[in-house]
Amino acid sequence: MLPINLLKTSTFRLAVLYLGLFAASAIMLLAYVYWNTAGFLVRQTDEAVQAEITGLAEQYAQGGLPLLVHTVIQRSRDPGQSLYLVLGPSGQLLAGNLDARPNATPGADGWMDFIYSRRALEGVELKAARARAFFLPEGFYLLVGRDVQERREIESLITGALAWAIALTLALGLVGGLFMSRNMLARVDEINRSSQDIMEGDLSRRLPIAGTGDELDQLGQNLNAMLDQIEALMIGMRQVTDNVAHDLRSPLNRLRNRLEVTLLQDVSPEEYRHVLERTIAEADNLLSTFNALLMIARAEAGSLRESMTGVDPAAIIRDAAELYEPLAEENGLTIVVDAREGMQVRGNRELLSQALTNLIDNAIKHGKPTDAGAEATIEVSARLDESGRVQFAVADHGPGVPAHERARVVERFVRLEASRNTPGSGLGLSLVSAVARLHNGRVDFEDNYPGLRVTLSLPAATR
Ligand SMILES: Nc1ncnc2c1ncn2[C@@H]1O[C@H](COP(=O)(O)OP(=O)(O)OP(=O)(O)O)[C@@H](O)[C@H]1O
Ligand SMILES: [Mg+2]
Repeated sequence: MLPINLLKTSTFRLAVLYLGLFAASAIMLLAYVYWNTAGFLVRQTDEAVQAEITGLAEQYAQGGLPLLVHTVIQRSRDPGQSLYLVLGPSGQLLAGNLDARPNATPGADGWMDFIYSRRALEGVELKAARARAFFLPEGFYLLVGRDVQERREIESLITGALAWAIALTLALGLVGGLFMSRNMLARVDEINRSSQDIMEGDLSRRLPIAGTGDELDQLGQNLNAMLDQIEALMIGMRQVTDNVAHDLRSPLNRLRNRLEVTLLQDVSPEEYRHVLERTIAEADNLLSTFNALLMIARAEAGSLRESMTGVDPAAIIRDAAELYEPLAEENGLTIVVDAREGMQVRGNRELLSQALTNLIDNAIKHGKPTDAGAEATIEVSARLDESGRVQFAVADHGPGVPAHERARVVERFVRLEASRNTPGSGLGLSLVSAVARLHNGRVDFEDNYPGLRVTLSLPAATR
């Protein structure tokens, strides 16, 4: 038994509708065939009889009854399919190859169909005939007709064949429709069962793909892609919450313990003040870690894709450089901006700005030149690369990141050994990487001989 009522499915309804249309056109076609075959035979018989009547009428007009009787007698000798009968006023047979006047009344069109008996080799045969009869002046009776037995047989052969053709068409169509909708239903049912499993919590389950590449397969593939996305997001979310819990729990505990210890001790107001100041600084740190994590989560959620607008890369890079100018100067560094005008990308302005400021922040924090000969500059640029992508680059002349560590630094909370003494939580590059993914772009790390050169390339938007 099918779980879904077959009659209610759109496939079945469509199949029935199709069948109806198909049957109607088949019947029309067969009617045309009938009219051209069996119909033609009928018309031909009638025309032949009519021609003979016209001929006899001419004889009658020329020579009266005697010539008519004479002609009929002559024609009756070799009648072929033709039938004749001429009777006198009292019903006596004068001429013709019929034995008696047929026991039939003519229809509205003057034609009558009847059965007559004919002497054959073995006894008497009953045969179908079609004729017209006329009453001549003085009570004479004339009948002209044709044997239609053979024609009737052909006709019934044709109608039989046509009826079978219609019945077969309908039966095949119905069976095909049923088969098609059952097939379809089985697949829809499978999809329903898989979705049910997924809804019950088995998120790794996927919908079955038949491999035919049809609409159902495409639907399944799209739904599977959607499930992949949802699963990836869920895993990402879980990672974020795990990381937040892991990374914020210990500083929060430290903070709380210090406050508790301070309260237990008998300390001077200055010392209280000092502890409170440290606590505020630590709380600030926690807040910025929180903010960074939330921003990464937003970038990774992908829901910002709908709210993307046209953004001018040159403007973003100039603003970011300007913002970090004072901090760079404090550290004895100069920011050099080289931004090509007239480009555009589609993106989220706030996240792109944050990603670039993170890169500049890193260059200032981790990119201070170590050998005396190196330039004390940070080069910030935006240009179009060979493949027509907008490429943001931030390059410094500091110690750089060893090649084998480059893949690792974009992970959350990863800070290299060399940066242990600088403030930060190791989330800056994670955000850059998430922003790149959100914009269908990529992040690359290269050696700047000496230093690090980070490029963020995004597809350019057409204005
Ligand atoms: N320009 C750079 N030169 C040398 N090392 C770098 C540079 N940029 C990043 N790094 C290394 O990569 C690590 C990760 O960088 P990331 O920006 O993710 O974190 P962070 O700067 O330490 O902290 P946060 O950005 O969260 O304040 C840094 O700790 C540093 O070791
Ligand atoms: Mg950083």
